[in-house]
Amino acid sequence: MASTTQRLKVIGWTDDGAVTLLDQTQLPAEEVYLSLRTVDEMVEAIQALRVRGAPLIGIAAAMGLAAAARAAEEEGVDPAGEWLADAVQRLGSARPTAVNLRWALERVVQNVERKRAAENGTPDRVPMSDLLRAEAELLWREDEEMCAAIGRAGARLVPERARVMTHCNAGMLATGGIGTALGVIYTAREEGKEVEVVSCEARPLRQGGRLTAWELSRNGVPVTVIVDSAAGMVMRSGVDLVVTGADRIASNGDTANKIGTYNLAVLAQAHGIPFYIAAPSSTFDLSLPAGERIPIEVRSESEVPTAPGATVYNPAFDVTPQNLIAGIITERGLITPPFEENIQALLGGK
Ligand code: MRU
Repeated sequence: MASTTQRLKVIGWTDDGAVTLLDQTQLPAEEVYLSLRTVDEMVEAIQALRVRGAPLIGIAAAMGLAAAARAAEEEGVDPAGEWLADAVQRLGSARPTAVNLRWALERVVQNVERKRAAENGTPDRVPMSDLLRAEAELLWREDEEMCAAIGRAGARLVPERARVMTHCNAGMLATGGIGTALGVIYTAREEGKEVEVVSCEARPLRQGGRLTAWELSRNGVPVTVIVDSAAGMVMRSGVDLVVTGADRIASNGDTANKIGTYNLAVLAQAHGIPFYIAAPSSTFDLSLPAGERIPIEVRSESEVPTAPGATVYNPAFDVTPQNLIAGIITERGLITPPFEENIQALLGGK
């Protein structure tokens, strides 16, 4: 079936090899595109959430690495060895929770080093920046395909007429494709289902209120934004399912996602509403047995307005325990409990 979902331009290349990014901090008021060509610029963009969402920060970091390598080559610096290690270290530690960031960089570097070793001794070696760019593009294409597959797998869970609640933004603004949680919604609509979305605002930076509302509206999907604290009341009035994205999933299924996701999972259980996570295999961290080992980013106090003298605690993510999750929708299919066993069976060799 041909896709009727309109793709938005979120990331790309400029003609001279820089990365162009839609600055998400300016949405929905303005569509501003930035051009980034250094490691420092990309680290700043990731930390300030100009680019965000677990899969997309991995892709952006890989693209940023290629752009910075090209700039280094133009200045006569060889972007291999120490240069590469330093750039990867800085990009990879820009944000701690989404495992996709380091996963993407490690994969790119491993593949490039393998290619480099294979061409050892050949006279005309491909420039490092070209190898990095090709790997970043591959990552992007694969993420796009994974989103489409997650969409197909998840759409089966959506009734013919459905009210779906989501949190934060796990759509085109967070991935290299149509999104994970929102990919499920776009696909269900393409299949002819009547889906309306309830988007929790996602305080304090309001990715749900600003970004999910923006991209769904662009695509003609009916969306109602609620403040996070209205979720219980709205569930009580009728929600068919909750679906969110993820930043890191431990091997027992415990899942880190935007702060407030855990609240929604507890509320969903109290109301008998199935709670699903939608995420690609790159979001699983099978080195962690359970969620308490997932590093949680704590962001600046300045993001939460309060009175002078008050202390602010501003964790950006929380962990939803696996017993509250009905299923994890991946590009390889739906994983249901018992998670430990079923994650291992589907993704153990990933
Ligand atoms: O702080 P953010 O905006 O990067 O947080 C993003 C989320 O929590 C998303 O739900 C998650 O990264 C999944 S995106 C497909």
